[in-house]
Amino acid sequence: MRDEYGRTIDYMRLSLTDRCNLRCRYCMPAEGCTLTTHTDLLRYEELLRVAQAAVSLGITRFKLTGGEPLVRRDAAAFVQALKSLPGVQQVTLTTNGLLLPPLLEPLLQAGLDAVNISLDTRDNAQYQAITRSRYTADEVLDAVRLCAGRLPTKINAVLLPETATQLIPLARLAQELPVDVRFIEQMPLGSAAAAIPPNEPCTASILDRLRTVWPQLAPVHQARGNGPAQYFSAPELQGCIGLIQAVSHSFCSHCNRVRLTCTGLLKPCLCYAEGVPLLPLLRSGAADNRLREQMRQAIAHKPAAHCFARREAITEYHNMNQIGG
Ligand code: GTP
Ligand code: 5AD
Ligand code: SF4
Repeated sequence: MRDEYGRTIDYMRLSLTDRCNLRCRYCMPAEGCTLTTHTDLLRYEELLRVAQAAVSLGITRFKLTGGEPLVRRDAAAFVQALKSLPGVQQVTLTTNGLLLPPLLEPLLQAGLDAVNISLDTRDNAQYQAITRSRYTADEVLDAVRLCAGRLPTKINAVLLPETATQLIPLARLAQELPVDVRFIEQMPLGSAAAAIPPNEPCTASILDRLRTVWPQLAPVHQARGNGPAQYFSAPELQGCIGLIQAVSHSFCSHCNRVRLTCTGLLKPCLCYAEGVPLLPLLRSGAADNRLREQMRQAIAHKPAAHCFARREAITEYHNMNQIGG
């Protein structure tokens, strides 16, 4: 469907959980945060009902997010159920990759269309410091290697001051493997807001630095996913390099998405806390047309744009693990 600014909204991000096996600095506070109890979590049947209503409103593609979506039991069976809904054209997943290896076959069999794996550095000690965990970058890379060539795979690297020297090593993964590597500006949401230094690295000089190694890096014009990334390719690279200029640029005039948190809040825009709580509707026996109408209204009134440039206008106070990335 179209929203009141004429944007076609056909992509929904579905968060399966706010739990995660990592504690990435820019996503969750060190002490953790109050996690959703089992009762307040949307059940798979409820998620499917929302997805069905979303399809009837013109959503054709779904992204599963978290927290870490793969900590939720039976994620592959859910992918299969979602893919089986008439009208669903694509189901993709954004994950930290650590739990992926044993689940890859079931996910492929379920019909998963693509995977995005988060990795901000190839340095194991740095990975542990950023994720506040004992996992290593090597373990994530094992998952990336398993996926590469079997389904479209992208690496998401959030730009951090201490990972500046990782730009080329990370980008090299697009040369070593058939994967895209995307560099993302850190968004000032939740626990990231206070921690973002004034000279936060942004994507401004990144292309110049990448061109010292790949001088022929040039924009790719065909679409490579659902999101706001801009892609570049070079003859030596198997995959593309992407930039997600989430803060320094606004892609809001082309926005195509809404999000559903794991507690069932239908959130029209990432940077505002406002949304329509669907859980009470689902659990009070509301008819399909009532659910659909509430969702239609939320989508129709999507905000025009984010307000990262005026931080005082951001109303979203949750952490990224609660928002769904
Ligand atoms: P594909 O294009 O299908 O690969 O998906 P995507 O890029 O939309 O999804 P992914 O979950 O990998 O998100 C990549 C980055 O984009 C993350 O840092 C998200 O937080 C950010 N992002 C996703 N949606 C939005 C959005 O609506 N607005 C902004 N500003 N950033 C977003
Ligand atoms: N800014 C930008 N990206 C973020 N992510 C999590 N928190 C932030 C933030 N504050 C990224 C993760 C993951 C994706 C879903 O969102 O690294 O790749
Ligand atoms: Fe869409 Fe809001 Fe993201 Fe902008 S910030 S692209 S309007 S969800």
